[in-house]
Amino acid sequence: MVVTGSIDKVREVIREARKKGKIVGFVPTMGALHEGHLSLIKAARRDSSFVVVSIFVNPVQFGLKEDYRSYPRNFKKDIELVKKEKIDLLFYPPAKAIYPDGFSTYISETCLSRALCGKSRTGHFIGVCTVVAKLFNIIEPDIAYFGQKDYQQARIIKKITKDLNFPTKIKVLPIVRERDGLAMSSRNIYLNSKEREVARCLYSAINLAKKLIKKGERNSRKVISKMEELMKSKKRVEIDYIEIVDADELNDLKRIGGRALIALAVYVGKTRLIDNIIVNVK
Ligand code: PAF
Repeated sequence: MVVTGSIDKVREVIREARKKGKIVGFVPTMGALHEGHLSLIKAARRDSSFVVVSIFVNPVQFGLKEDYRSYPRNFKKDIELVKKEKIDLLFYPPAKAIYPDGFSTYISETCLSRALCGKSRTGHFIGVCTVVAKLFNIIEPDIAYFGQKDYQQARIIKKITKDLNFPTKIKVLPIVRERDGLAMSSRNIYLNSKEREVARCLYSAINLAKKLIKKGERNSRKVISKMEELMKSKKRVEIDYIEIVDADELNDLKRIGGRALIALAVYVGKTRLIDNIIVNVK
């Protein structure tokens, strides 16, 4: 496994791999790797013959009041994990390599980014799109892997890939959950034991919505109210949003039908957690 922070080195190693006819699979991450990331890496290992992982805590996708400085970083553990997965190249650039002095070009997707997390995290998706576009230009992957937990992110990345003609196929893999249903996230380590217990309510709310829809409820407002009720019964929980939108365009759905995304963002203590589910309703 090659480990490098140099863009030139990455290009050189990938050029060599391509000469040998390798298919390049890419998993971009911000490190603090968990089973969710590993499921993406394993998928890349299955589909491609040269697996690249990047670890880069991208400063421009964090708001001023967000957790860029405290975001979990554990390079030692991460490197052991990726070694076990037998990846070929780990790209671990310093911030200056990605954003040198004078950097002034940003990628902004202007439609899907306005929905859901875009409302409360101004500029977040500009940061995500910019870094992903840069990583795609550096690595030129055949396939790139994203998790469904960040459904909106994956949807936006699919959109910029199409709009900007990146020749990369985007694969989105299912959410990996803890035994009690909490979606795996690097931010889960912020939770103290009481908060960790309470955090199960995200999954409970999702299951409640699923049950109501299965019983025939089609009124989004009613489903959301029930989910809110469940959340409000928990201490230390503050809802950022609970929304039901169509899974492609992310527009609000008054009546639930077709491929619908039920998405929520909730603060448990100071930690912002997200989760979602897609339901197919005839
Ligand atoms: O999902 C993440 O970890 C990040 O948003 C990504 C895609 C690596 C971009 O920084």
